[in-house]
Formats: sequence, C-alpha cells, structure tokens
Amino acid sequence: MSDKAIIEVNGERIELPIEIGTEGEKAIDIKKLRVLTGGLITLDPGFKNTGSCKSKITFLDGEKGILRYRGYALEDLAENSTFLEVAYLIIFGELPTKIEFDKFIKTIKSYTMINEEMKDIIDGFPKSAHPMGILSSLTSALTAFNPQSVNIEDEEEMYQAICKTLAKIPVLAAWAHKKNLGEPLNYANNQVGYIENILEMMFKIPTEPYKPNPIVVNALDQLLILHEDHEQNCSTSTVRLVGSSHAGMFASISAGVSALWGPLHGGANQAVIEMLEDIAKDGGDVEKYINKAKDKNDSFRLMGFGHRVYKNFDPRARIIKKSADEVLADLGIEDPILEIAKKLEKVALQDEYFVKRKLYPNVDFYSGIIYRALGIPTEMFTVMFAIGRLPGWIAQWREMRLNNEPIGRPRQLYVGEKLRKFVPINKR
Ligand code: SDX
Repeated sequence: MSDKAIIEVNGERIELPIEIGTEGEKAIDIKKLRVLTGGLITLDPGFKNTGSCKSKITFLDGEKGILRYRGYALEDLAENSTFLEVAYLIIFGELPTKIEFDKFIKTIKSYTMINEEMKDIIDGFPKSAHPMGILSSLTSALTAFNPQSVNIEDEEEMYQAICKTLAKIPVLAAWAHKKNLGEPLNYANNQVGYIENILEMMFKIPTEPYKPNPIVVNALDQLLILHEDHEQNCSTSTVRLVGSSHAGMFASISAGVSALWGPLHGGANQAVIEMLEDIAKDGGDVEKYINKAKDKNDSFRLMGFGHRVYKNFDPRARIIKKSADEVLADLGIEDPILEIAKKLEKVALQDEYFVKRKLYPNVDFYSGIIYRALGIPTEMFTVMFAIGRLPGWIAQWREMRLNNEPIGRPRQLYVGEKLRKFVPINKR
C-alpha cells in the first residue's frame, strides 16, 4: 500500500502522506490540508475517524480486543504486577528496578499530607454532593496550594509533581466519600501500601481499628490496573486539550475528572448498577430492557455495553467478569445483580441488534459488581475509576507537553446566518 493518500479537489490531485504506526495502523497526515487545498478542512463529530496525536503509551486493537500498556499485554500485567508498578511503567515507559520503585513509593508517601485549609473547601459542600463533583473541585483547588507551574523540561521537578499527584488525589477521593458519610476525614497512613491506604482512608472510623481484607486489597489492586490508561478516550483527550494551553497538571486532571463523570464514559459503572437494580426491582425481566435499548424512540441505552473502539469483547471486561465470580466466592457473597448481569449479557449477545452493531460488554459492565462486593458505594464507583485512570492522565499529559504539541484548537463548519445589520429594539 502506498504511503500516500490522493484526493482530488476542483480537478487538482493533492497528495497527503500516510503515517504508519508500530502495529501497522495507518493515518493520513492532514497537517497541510488547508494550505494545499485553499482552505479545505475535515469534519468528524466525536473524532470517530480522527487521530489527535501520536502516542507511545497504550496500544488498542478494537477488532481483536487487544490492550497493551507500553507494549506489555494487559492480561500479563493484571496477573503479575501491581497498580503502582504499572503506574510507573505507564508514566516513565519502563518497569522500575527495585531501587527506582522504592524511591517512587517513598517519594509518593512524602506527599500524602493535604493542606489543612483544604478542609474549609470540602466543608463548603453539602453532604449530598456527588463525590465526582467534590473530587474535581478539590483537585483544581490543589493548584491554590501548589501555584508554581511545573517546568516540564526539569525531570526532577516533573518527577516530584507526578509523585505529589499520585499521593494527593486518592486522599481527596477518600475525603469526598467521608463527606458523603458525614464521618471524620482520615489522613493517609504511610505505614501501609498504596491500595491498603485507599481502603483505610475510605473505611476507617476513629472508634475502631481497621485492617483491610487481603482479598479486597488484591481485587481492588487488579481492578485499578485495568483502568490505568486507555489511549485517547474522552477524559484523557480532555486532559490533553486543557494541558495543551499550558494549564497546570492539577487543573488538567480536574477537567479530566469532570469528563469521566459523564454516564456515557466513566459514569457508566454507576449507571450499570442502577440499571441492574431497576431490572431486579422489575422482576429480572431482561428482555424488557433489551427491547427498550433497541427502541429508537426510547432514550434508554444498555449501560456498560458498546464502545467507540472495541468491536469485540473489551479485554478488561473479560478479566473483570472472571474476577467478579472469584471475589464474590472468596468473600462468600451471593449478589443477585451478578446473575442478572450475566443473563443480560447472554441475551444481548444473541440479539441481532447488538450483534450487528458489535455491542459487547465494556469495562464498566461488571466493575460495579466488584466494587459493591468490596463495600464501595455506587456513587463512589466513578471516583474509583478516576483513581485508576490517574496514571494514564499523568502519562498522557506529560507526553503531550514533552512532545511540545501545539494548543488544541479544532476548526468548524459554520452553518449559521449570513451577515445581517443590527435592528434597534423599537423596530423589531
Ligand atoms: C468508557 O473511549 C474509551 O476508551 C472509554 C473507556 C475508557 O477506558 O476510557 O473505555 C471507558 O467510557 C466505556 C464506555 C462506557 N459507556 C457506556 O457503557 C454507555 C453505553 N454505551 C454507549 O452509550 C456507547 O456504546 C458509547 C458511548 C460507549 C460509544 O458510542 P459511539 O461509539 O458514539 O457509538 P454510537 O452511539 O454511534 O452507537 C452506534 C450504534 C447506534 O445505533 P444506530 O444509530 O447505528 O442504529 O449502536 C447503538 C447506537 O444507538 N448503541 C447502543 C448502545 N451503544 C451503542 N444501543 C443500545 N445500548 C447501547 N449501550
């Protein structure tokens, strides 16, 4: 296949270079399209056919259901690594040596304190505030206490900022949960591991000792690995776009948290459980909901199904489905919602509507069932997704800045009014 694309515009042949990626993916480079064609642009709502950047971080093959972080298969990492080790890999590009990993953990622990004045901000929220809204606000507020923007060219300064972010966001996430409960906020506990600390900050109460169940720790560690990056999804693209204006990392990540909150994106894990609970209340009639999802006059969608890239099983959904069975069995939990999810999946995957559109369960379809089993409340599911996605957001923001990418500013096709004169109000 030639490494050029040819388009004809007003009888003139225009050659555009084709770039080829590591795994053979091909992209038409349209950087010079407007210049070569006298102003022609492309139009692609939702960027379904448009690549925003080149990246070395994550490789997805939607047709084959492949997901790799820095060349390592997700299944390999989920089986053999830990959330923080994979975070190091995703951010810095290589698995850490023991010395590098020990330094990483130590540096993160040096930043787990949060300025006490942040408590005045969280006090301003009503108890009923959604934890994603609290997290997005508190993340942005971190800028107030870390006003100096990171010098991206200074490796050590960037390293410290990365560790600070990985240290503080989980604390703020746990504070959002405690705010909803009306319970005292916990400080981080540097004597325990990263995942244990998240669970302790979320569940420890001053009157009782707390030690997380190792089954819960391992299940959460693996679940968060599965969420760490996913190339140019909506929230990551948001982090890149905000960061492209040279806004700080906290401000960019705060915007990513808001984008992730949407029910079409990370908010789907909460929406899936709410949907399954509705089906359970409705007598478990999955066919009724499948028909609602197929009905064009009904806005209802089968939450946790479908994906912009995967036109095959989401590899994360496969792992999570298997893990859900194991975790519930290990914890001795019978959750009728899991059986409804499996029945819904079975019926949907035999239905022409879903088969024709290649709609399979995605990462959000089963994850909520595990979060429930771990004792995490539904409104915190997307916060857990944000904690999981944090290393990816950091890595993608850093890559975009190190590549010195231009500020993101898409074009548009104007279809509004032509020029018209102002009419004074007494003449309208
Ligand atoms: C995440 O991008 C990422 O990588 C995201 C993510 C990550 O890790 O960052 O993987 C995480 O966000 C997973 C997706 C979570 N969202 C949901 O589960 C919400 C339900 N799913 C859909 O809303 C939808 O599938 C999307 C948003 C995920 C993808 O939408 P697209 O790619 O824009 O596809 P589309 O809306 O154009 O759908 C194509 C067709 C349409 O039907 P037709 O017009 O062709 O007749 O499929 C239908 C849609 O109506 N369809 C669904 C459906 N999803 C798509 N019909 C019923 N139920 C659904 N869930």
